Order: sequence, then C-alpha cells, then structure tokens
Amino acid sequence: MNKVSLLIGPVNQLVTAKSIPWRHGDSVIIIEEAGVAVNGHEVIDVGPWREISRRYEGKCRVSAEDSLVTAGLIDPHTHLLFAGSREDELELKLQGTPYEEILKRGGGIYRTVNETVNASDEELRGILLSRLLEVAKYGTTTIEVKSGYGISPKEEIRLLRIINDAAGEALIDVIPTYLIHVPPRNMNRVEYINAVTASLDQAKELAKFIDVFCDDGAFTVNETRAILNEASLRGFKLRLHADEIAYIGCSDLVNEFNLTSLDHLLNMPEQNAKAMALRGSTATLLPATVLSLMSSKRPPVKALKDSGVPIALGSDFSPNTWVLNMQYVMELATYLLGMTPLEVLMASTVNAAYSLGFRDRGILQPGYLANMVIWSIPNYKWLSYELGRNKALMTISRGIILES
Ligand code: NIG
Ligand code: FE
Repeated sequence: MNKVSLLIGPVNQLVTAKSIPWRHGDSVIIIEEAGVAVNGHEVIDVGPWREISRRYEGKCRVSAEDSLVTAGLIDPHTHLLFAGSREDELELKLQGTPYEEILKRGGGIYRTVNETVNASDEELRGILLSRLLEVAKYGTTTIEVKSGYGISPKEEIRLLRIINDAAGEALIDVIPTYLIHVPPRNMNRVEYINAVTASLDQAKELAKFIDVFCDDGAFTVNETRAILNEASLRGFKLRLHADEIAYIGCSDLVNEFNLTSLDHLLNMPEQNAKAMALRGSTATLLPATVLSLMSSKRPPVKALKDSGVPIALGSDFSPNTWVLNMQYVMELATYLLGMTPLEVLMASTVNAAYSLGFRDRGILQPGYLANMVIWSIPNYKWLSYELGRNKALMTISRGIILES
C-alpha cells in the first residue's frame, strides 16, 4: 500500500479531458465509481475506486458517493480589483441607455477609475482578498485578475503590485494581467500610448499578460496594434477584449499577433474563427456580460466549434457584471449560448487553462496539479442543468481542501 496525502473515493463519476486543449468532438474520460490519489500538490493516480482503494492508503480520506469530481474551475477573465460599485447604472440601462453612452458621459469605467484611484492600497488589497475567498466557494481554483481601473501607468503599476501581493496570500492561484482599458479623458491619446509603452518594462515582473480593450469607445485597431507590438517585443503573452460592443476590426489582429486568447467576440465576423484556429488562439466567451449588456448579440459559437477553436468561459466580473460565481456563468453558457454541459465543463477547466497558457492544470489525470471540485450532483449533465444553487461541495487547491 502506498501512503498518499489525500485519497478521494468512491465518487459516483469523474469527468476530465485527456489533453490540453479540448476541441469540439474530442473524446473525454468518464469513470463511474471513481477514485483519485493525491500526493502533495499533484494528482498521482486516477481510476476505478476498486483499484485505487487497493493501491493507496490516505492520510486524509474523502468519500462522496453521490457526487461528481472534476478538475477545479479556472476563471480566465476577471476585473476583480476595483473600489465602489455601479448599481445605479442598472436603472439607466433599463431605461435604454447603452453601455457605450454611459461611458461617453464619464460614467461606467471612468467612474470606477475615480473610486479606485482614491482607495488606499490596504483597502484595495482587502477587497481583492475577500473576492478571492468568495470565488473559491464556487469552485474556482485559478483566476486571472486584470488591472485596468488606474488608467495612468503609475496607478496601473500600483494595482498590479496589489494583485501580486494578494496572489502571495491567496489560497488559489492568481494570474495578473496588465489591461490597457480606456484612453484617459484629459490627455492626448498618442502621449498616453507612449506613456503606457514606457511602463511595460516595469510591468514585466508584475504581469503575465497584456490585454487591450479594443472596441468602439475604447482603443482603435491602430492604437491596439501599437501597444501589442511593444508588449510582444518585451515577451508578454497577449490577450484581447475584441468585438464586444461593435466590430471595428479588432479580432482581425489575430492574423498579426500570437494572441493567447480573444475575449467577448459578440460582434466577431464568422470568418475570423478560421484564423483563430490556425493561430491556436482560445475564444474566451463571457455570457454573464451578454446578460449585463442586455445584448441580443451572441458570439459565433457554431463557427468557433466547427473551425476547431478551443472555447473557454470566464466570468468577466466587473462593476458592470457583478458575478463571482463561475457556476452561474456555466449555466448561462448553456441557456444563452447553447453549449452542452460537457462543453461547458471543458470550457471552464481545460480550455480555461489553455486560455491562460497553462499546461499543468485543468485536467484530472496523474501529473497535473491537484486542483479539483467535488460536486453535490450525481453526474456532469447536472452541471448546467440545475440553476442557481452552489453545487460545489468541496474545492481542493494544490491538494489542500479549501471549502467543504
Ligand atoms: O470586459 N469591456 C471592458 N471591460 C469590462 C467592463 C468593465 C466595466 O464596465 O467596468 C468588460 O466588459
Ligand atoms: Fe472584461
């Protein structure tokens, strides 16, 4: 008998992808009456419980007979760090004022920037840490966190430092992104982009990704190209907010850069799906924002699937889309975007890992990080079938039980 730190089983069902990424039509591993052996941070064995229980003895044993076990959820797109809220803008939206109009009037992102730059490091750190605790309750084990509510490079660097500090304390993995969010209202745009470029060297040790909000009302394609050029020269990985509000050519940039992920894509022309597939880019879809924008538009899910683009899901948590619960995002992906429960699971585990450039997580197989969710549902088909209840029984991050 081998002694392991954590032995899980029997569980009713285990579902995982075989490799990263998962593409529409790829087979998956489904084990009924399963067991998982974990040692330290890593999964060391997975299989039928009758075999696993014969091979291993656990210092800690979790049995959850009627449950499902999957890889931990990964949220690859969040704006988790800001102060304040914008609940009164909901009423404006309900009266028919569009998102871009609120932004033009100095509301929206600009308003949150004001509140954020006036908050102290301590306040912001506290807000971020409490949100990180909350997401883990819903099964999130790795989360991307963007800066973006500082605007001035000095403030953006401050936010990135706060994200890095919180990452050091959090129980789940935090991936920092430097987001170039909106042009300042009181500065020449060319000068601003030069200032952003000048801050990239300093940002190098603080952020894995550079992201640009390329859209009507934010940055133009030319401005975005200039920023991405400088970022790629410095070795950043790149991601993009593209075609969210309107199509102004942003997703075409997939032909010019190695974009790890293109996100939103509500207005993306279908033909760009082929280019994304060729480049190996992920499509990170954010259905909660489809809802919060009250948009009738949808990303071209069928074209993305047919072209073999890996689809990931993210929460896009922000003052405009207040959702910390990835399970709700998964449910919306089924009911708003037509994704099956299996597609939704792949999109929020293995493909979300791919969207963040990871090869060590998102899969529940030997050699991968022991990030898992034990779900209080009997099989994966319940994942986006049952609405509105926290279905995570237990979240495990790097072999440690966080919530139960
Ligand atoms: O992804 N699109 C830009 N940024 C966020 C919204 C941020 C905000 O409205 O505060 C998004 O939807
Ligand atoms: Fe976003």
